[in-house]
Amino acid sequence: METKKVYIETLGCQMNKSDAERMYGMLEYCGYTQTENPKEADMLIINTCSIRQLSEDKAYSQIGVWGKMKKSKPSLKIVFAGCVAQQGGANVLKRAPYVDLVLGTQRLYELPNLVKRIEAGERIVSIDEKPYDESEIKINRVKGVNAWIPIMEGCNNFCTYCIVPYTRGRERSRKPELIIAEAKKALADGFKEITLLGQNVDSYGKDLPEGQNLSWLLRQLNALEGKFRIRFVTNYPTDITEEVIETVIELDKVCEYFHIPMQSGDDFVLKKMNRRYDYATYKKICDNIRFKIPDVTITSDFIAGFPGETEEQFENTLKAMTELELDYSNTAAYSPREKTVAAKWVDLYISEDVKTERLARLNEHNRACCLKSNQKYVGREMEVLIENSEVRKNGDKVITGRTRNNKIVHIPCDRDLTGKFVNVEITRARTWYLNGELV
Ligand code: SAH
Ligand code: SF4
Ligand code: F3S
Repeated sequence: METKKVYIETLGCQMNKSDAERMYGMLEYCGYTQTENPKEADMLIINTCSIRQLSEDKAYSQIGVWGKMKKSKPSLKIVFAGCVAQQGGANVLKRAPYVDLVLGTQRLYELPNLVKRIEAGERIVSIDEKPYDESEIKINRVKGVNAWIPIMEGCNNFCTYCIVPYTRGRERSRKPELIIAEAKKALADGFKEITLLGQNVDSYGKDLPEGQNLSWLLRQLNALEGKFRIRFVTNYPTDITEEVIETVIELDKVCEYFHIPMQSGDDFVLKKMNRRYDYATYKKICDNIRFKIPDVTITSDFIAGFPGETEEQFENTLKAMTELELDYSNTAAYSPREKTVAAKWVDLYISEDVKTERLARLNEHNRACCLKSNQKYVGREMEVLIENSEVRKNGDKVITGRTRNNKIVHIPCDRDLTGKFVNVEITRARTWYLNGELV
């Protein structure tokens, strides 16, 4: 069979990265090999993200560039996939007439059939919200240290600012036997870390037989042979069970790391966001985890300038970040998303200037929290899983990896130890990472 080349560009979250790996896997069976150079590709695929207006704009401007390439190479196929595709549907074809396929988030597994049809000249929109049967799926992971494995898709929470429930559909758990088989294959292929993915991993198993929940799944995976680590993201604050906390303590491979988005430190704003907790409840959850799991890393997400947010309410977010000593937070200025409830509160929108200014203050607090968190580890010996090695411009050779609690460590070393577990003494704390020496 003639081999063709495919280039995939991925924006957005780890779910999209994981989808890209699945796409490569399927396309290999359709006679495509992967290229890093869009100019030599026969097919260009973009996995889009619509979490904020900026990410959506980026997707359209990228395919604009590809559309120009197609003028001098009419056989070029362009696929528009991911969350913006799910939302845009047929409008994408109107807006970008050079696109051959608009592929929705729940139609990923149809890709091989659709590719044959676009190769024959059809232009297709496939965005039905009809969960697939994925028993046939082949995954071709980009070789690395950490394998992302989705355990569930979709979200039922409908936070008032968020597009995800509209782009990824309702919550569905993947069958445990598929997850375990995927994990086994990743480990056999040399991966050393497995990260279980879901918008709300605590909901895992709600649609499965009694007893099959996140803790149960972690136990099944922990029992697999070999030295490796297990992580999971994202947790919804009030859905984290004592059982999961106990499981993290008990299982040797499961890492001491929780990503628990708070979004705002103000009770009124939280209510308007349709988050099901107040600040005191979040604090209790956080304190409980910190009390039970020493050295646990807790990270969060925050939004600045949610519609109607007052200066005082925003300051409650800053206070919360500092009081809880959050180890790291993702931050963003509120971006209105079509279809969502909060986007309709136009009268309450915060001006761009104020949002930008609040975001800057949020980032400043975040930097201080990160540095403080990192300083706790200076002088300590920690196990690091090396993820890459590089030669710096000045000739220094540095290897980089993560501790169990997800701290990034840079270590001078002239051997490539990628994929190895090493013991490191932490020598210095920086804002975003630690320096260390091999022991
Ligand atoms: N399921 C996860 C988050 C998924 S989206 C959770 O429940 O927290 C990732 C992050 O994007 C969110 O935590 C939120 O902080 C941010 N986000 C979502 N919608 C946004 C919007 N309209 N504007 C700005 N940030 C947003
Ligand atoms: Fe979005 Fe809320 Fe669902 Fe997270 S829980 S994906 S923020 S709707
Ligand atoms: Fe992820 Fe962006 Fe979709 S964050 S779920 S790719 S909207």
